[in-house]
Formats: sequence, C-alpha cells, structure tokens
Amino acid sequence: MKTGMLYGIGVGPGDPELLTLKALRVLKGATVLAYPKSSETASENESKAFSIVRAAGVEGNEPLELLFPMTKDADALEEARKDAAASIIERLKQGKDVAFITLGDPMLYSTFSYLVPLVKEAGAEVRSIPGVTSFSAAASVALAPLAESDERVMIMPASTGVEEIKKMLDESGSVVLMKAGRFLDKIIDLALELGVADSSVFASRVGWKDEEVVRGIGKLKGRKAGYFSMVILRKGKA
Ligand SMILES: C[S@@+](CC[C@H](N)C(=O)[O-])C[C@H]1O[C@@H](n2cnc3c(N)ncnc32)[C@H](O)[C@@H]1O
Repeated sequence: MKTGMLYGIGVGPGDPELLTLKALRVLKGATVLAYPKSSETASENESKAFSIVRAAGVEGNEPLELLFPMTKDADALEEARKDAAASIIERLKQGKDVAFITLGDPMLYSTFSYLVPLVKEAGAEVRSIPGVTSFSAAASVALAPLAESDERVMIMPASTGVEEIKKMLDESGSVVLMKAGRFLDKIIDLALELGVADSSVFASRVGWKDEEVVRGIGKLKGRKAGYFSMVILRKGKA
C-alpha cells in the first residue's frame, strides 16, 4: 500500500477567512486531523486551531492528539517529538494522509517543523501548506507596514533580551517580537528610550473575538499581556 502524505497546515492566526483555499481542500481530504496538545494543560492553542478549521466547515477527520510538554528540557522535547512522529508514521503506513494543523504558518516557530525530518527519515513524504502569519495579520490590522523601500525586518522571540533587540532595531526598519506577553513592560521601556513607542504596535489575539491592536505602545505600560501577543517595534518616519 502506498504511504500517506503528512501535511503541515497553516490555519492562520484566528480569522477562519484567512484559511487558504489550498489548506481547506487538503484538510477536507485528509483522513487524520493531527494537532499538538500541551501535556500539562489544555492550552488555548490547539482549541483555537480546531475552532478555526471547524468554523471553516472541516469535520469528519479521524482526530490524532499529539502530546508535547511545555518545557525547555531538550531530552523531554526530543522524546515527545519522536513519539509524535511515530504516531504519525503509523497512520501514514496505513495509507492515510495526515493533516497537522498549526496556528499561523507551519514554518514559523511551530512544532511541525521538528517533525519533518523524523517523518522523512521514515521514508514518508511531507508537505507544508503556508498560512498567514500572526505578524502579517497584525501589521494589516494596524495598517503598519513591516518594511518599505530598502528597509529590513527582523523576527525574533522577545526573550532574546533588550541589548540584542536594540542592536537589531538599529539595523532594521521593524523588529517583530514574538511571544512578547511576559516582556511587555521591558519592551515598552526600550521603545520609549529609543523614541519608537509612538510608531510601534502591540497586537494581542489577532483575529479572535477579543483582538486588541494598539499603535503607540507607551500607554500600555503596566498592563498584563497573554501568550498570544506580540510587539512590532517600528522606527517612525522623520
Ligand atoms: C509558537 S509561536 C507561533 C507562530 C505562528 N506559527 C505564526 O506563524 O504566527 C506563538 C507566538 O505567535 C504569536 N501569535 C500567534 N497567534 C497570534 C495571534 N492570533 N495574535 C497575536 N499573536 C499571535 C504570539 O507572539 C505567540 O507568542
């Protein structure tokens, strides 16, 4: 029997209308709908990806829950990825296509990219269907260009640290800080220090019912922000 295909499917950041036609076609045709789940808590991540595909009318696939620990422990992560890959490979060997859904794009800070080499090593084929990234959706809502003319864009986790962020903003027109929730106050202090607070954007839960997108981040000092938030530091125009 022919081995099935593993698809990484980017479902976009939240608005089901941002699911591509290609993603929808592949999702409807795949036998198995695989999704990552944190092994500690039921995170909003997976339920959100599900709600996006459900809202787009996808039903009837065989669900496959894949457990991943919320940890930075490399051994634990590797083991979880191997287990997840094994569960996927088992279905692929039965000739089933597997659609692994991921928020935003599968090639940007996503669990899916770690599974690609493991599944390919087993001799199965893998494809990625791109999705609208959270930062491009945020830039659209704010009508804030990420780059114009010869400007550069840097994408990095907010945890990288203030000095590195400063250096990157020196070299780029925009710095996209992913996973910014816990670091919001530090980022705002830096933006105020560098004089870019007014032109920078805070975006939380873009495309969700409680979406918040704010241009001019100085006024947000002291407020709490959750995991699904980012800051786009943007140099103002002279
Ligand atoms: C593990 S990364 C996933 C990125 C995703 N693959 C993408 O293409 O956007 C998680 C981070 O993405 C950002 N993010 C994802 N969805 C978001 C949304 N709807 N609104 C704002 N930020 C979001 C947040 O910075 C969050 O901490």
